[in-house]
Amino acid sequence: MIPERTQVAIVGGGPAGLMLAHLLRLRGVDSVVLEARPRERVETRQRAGILEHGTVDALREVGADARMDEHGLPHDGFELRFSGRSVRVDMQELTGHRVMIWAQTEVTKDLIALRLSHGEPLLFDAEVLAVEDVETDAPSVRYRHDGAEHVLRADAVVGADGSYGPARRAIPEHLVGRFERIYPYSWLGILADVAPSSHELIYARGREGFALASMRSPTVTRAYIQVPNGTDAQDWADEAIWDQLSARFALDDGSFTLARGPITDKSVTPMRSVVTEPMRHGRLFLAGDAAHIVPPTGAKGLNLAVADVRVLAEALGEWFASKDETLLDAYSDTALRRVWRASHFSWTMTTMLHVDPDGDPFDEKLALAHLHHIEVSESARRALAENYRGLALGAV
Ligand code: DHB
Repeated sequence: MIPERTQVAIVGGGPAGLMLAHLLRLRGVDSVVLEARPRERVETRQRAGILEHGTVDALREVGADARMDEHGLPHDGFELRFSGRSVRVDMQELTGHRVMIWAQTEVTKDLIALRLSHGEPLLFDAEVLAVEDVETDAPSVRYRHDGAEHVLRADAVVGADGSYGPARRAIPEHLVGRFERIYPYSWLGILADVAPSSHELIYARGREGFALASMRSPTVTRAYIQVPNGTDAQDWADEAIWDQLSARFALDDGSFTLARGPITDKSVTPMRSVVTEPMRHGRLFLAGDAAHIVPPTGAKGLNLAVADVRVLAEALGEWFASKDETLLDAYSDTALRRVWRASHFSWTMTTMLHVDPDGDPFDEKLALAHLHHIEVSESARRALAENYRGLALGAV
């Protein structure tokens, strides 16, 4: 049955939209989730793999934590490498919190399965054509499903439909501020059937650029190297990728060896930062990538999306319960403070660890000075760790 009316119409069935639907349900608020893509596509998209402790808490709150607890890998710290040596950042010791390695793909699968197990509305292949009347108290979403056009009426609409989604277009252009930074490099990412060579993540600044050693499980390695913009993943032979990874992670004392194995997936991710403000217009609220993109360094994208909807669920819950609009009115400013904190952190991690192809030796010296400071100063390590594991809601 196609629902015609709900309290909150959610455009986008990625982690932001799905998590919001679950949080609203816990607050007694009905929603309908409309996703343009087929279920199979949503469930197989490879994205980052680090969950802040707040994101883990949210998954626990909604009951999507069983597989995460069974297969996720809690990490107490991570490593930075530069100039042939290594610095460990012990998040647990410095901040009392750790992070979880659990891929966004798996989070999405669990959130979808949970929604369907509740019998709550989630439509795939539902292409949104327009979000309308958001300046009135009767907004609606026009969409196409199974060859027919439908209208979903709601009290509020949430645009959680990614950076190219249609929801944002319901905000008049002249009211939108857009802030953007395109980075002069991209990431070539691989998945490989080989056990990770380090039990913690390694972020390296090599002479020829950035490299990251991550993992998906005790038998699957995930790794990235910095490549020029416009790179085609297929132009990189497997051995050439392993050679670059080995060179960028190498330690002067020769104590590190990178294990190689069959590469099962290769893709290139461009690096950009975009923030659009405000995140609300009338009865339309934006969340996640629909409002902001961060470069992947530090894996803040999913975590920011979840933080947005935690704030939004609280605000919508309060509004439906008591008609009090205070939290809803504060939503955009509250969310944007964290967005800019994370944008700054991602920029810091990115510029500190990448080699700018248009940079000069001065840039190189500054990046190394930053890394040296982290090496010698516990307070610098703590600040890094605090941002990496994520600040508590309300602490930004
Ligand atoms: C991964 C991605 C990141 O951007 C990051 O900072 C850490 C890990 C990952 O895909 O595993």
